Amino acid sequence: MRAWMPAAGRPATVLAPMQDVTHHGFLAILARRSQPDWFVTEYFRVYPNSRVDRRIARCFEENPTGRPVVAQMIGRDPADLVRIARELEKRGAAGVDLNLGCPAPVVCRKEAGGGLLRDPARIDRILEALRGELAGPLTVKTRLGYDAPEEFQRLLEVFARHAIDGLAVHARTVRDGYATPVRPQWVKLAAAALPCPVIANGNAVCAATARALLEQSGAAGIMVGRGAIRNPWIFAQIAADDAPAPPRPHLRDLLVYVGELWEMVAAVPGLGERSQVAAMKKFMNFIADGIDPEGAFLHGVRRAATAAGFLGLCRDFLDRDGPVPERPPPQSGSFRGFGALLGGGRD
Ligand SMILES: Cc1cc2nc3c(=O)[nH]c(=O)nc-3n(C[C@H](O)[C@H](O)[C@H](O)COP(=O)(O)O)c2cc1C
Repeated sequence: MRAWMPAAGRPATVLAPMQDVTHHGFLAILARRSQPDWFVTEYFRVYPNSRVDRRIARCFEENPTGRPVVAQMIGRDPADLVRIARELEKRGAAGVDLNLGCPAPVVCRKEAGGGLLRDPARIDRILEALRGELAGPLTVKTRLGYDAPEEFQRLLEVFARHAIDGLAVHARTVRDGYATPVRPQWVKLAAAALPCPVIANGNAVCAATARALLEQSGAAGIMVGRGAIRNPWIFAQIAADDAPAPPRPHLRDLLVYVGELWEMVAAVPGLGERSQVAAMKKFMNFIADGIDPEGAFLHGVRRAATAAGFLGLCRDFLDRDGPVPERPPPQSGSFRGFGALLGGGRD
């Protein structure tokens, strides 16, 4: 993973894994606008006799980005995880990442994802098995703990024992969910304790919040999820921090982006119009937030039921002059808590 880090001085940028979002088509659309230093796929589910999901594997088998694509796994059994990790490596994943953060109750109940954080001894066994068997990079994406951030210290001891190649920290606990402010001071602890690059994650919604999270955490890089759906130019904006002309997308650029997402969604064979519009909503919840001060665009797309209605609404609000707002509004429902990074307290 060190090989993917940018030249000295610039923090690394990474696309966060997002289930049902960061698939092959989305990576291609994003990469045409800005490129993180590497990408992480949504998770491959690993259980006895599980097979590699071919749809997700396209991200690295037909990598449309020219940058490394790491395969993320979620599971609990060391032998199963090793079996799938070997296959992912063989099929061209640039590295393998272990998910220790998914808060979905159904996942946590099975002691996978965030649920594993309650059992550091099992994480220890999993990492030992993976490290011993894998030829390529092994990374971990974790939350700070299950119930409380104080659990992080013990987790760091486990991570330190296995020479992992990188650690991405979503700076919240599982209990925190998605809506609280993040806790950069705990990422700082990881950056000081581990020899590998530590990547901070959570609530970087624009270049300024990314910069603030980097400064407050001392991390070597920044991982962006929802902010990259909203603003696919964000990686170039973060990287071009000191450059004279970071990309400044206009509303019509956003309309072209939404059009490409629509083509991607509509191209799924057999998908009816209603389902196409529904599929767009997982992107639009982030893209539409804060485009107009009254929130009429977001309100409208959430209620759209026909292709004509949805696309017409996009044209009404985006086929206009004017820049895309730099970040969502402080009262955003989709990105709650980001204001704290800018000194805005809880929002
Ligand atoms: C729709 C969605 C799907 C996600 N799927 C995954 C996943 O498959 N694996 C994972 O580790 N995290 C997943 N996450 C969490 C993100 O990777 C990231 O940690 C979280 O969104 C915080 O970062 P952000 O504020 O930049 O979005 C998902 C998040 C969202 C919003």
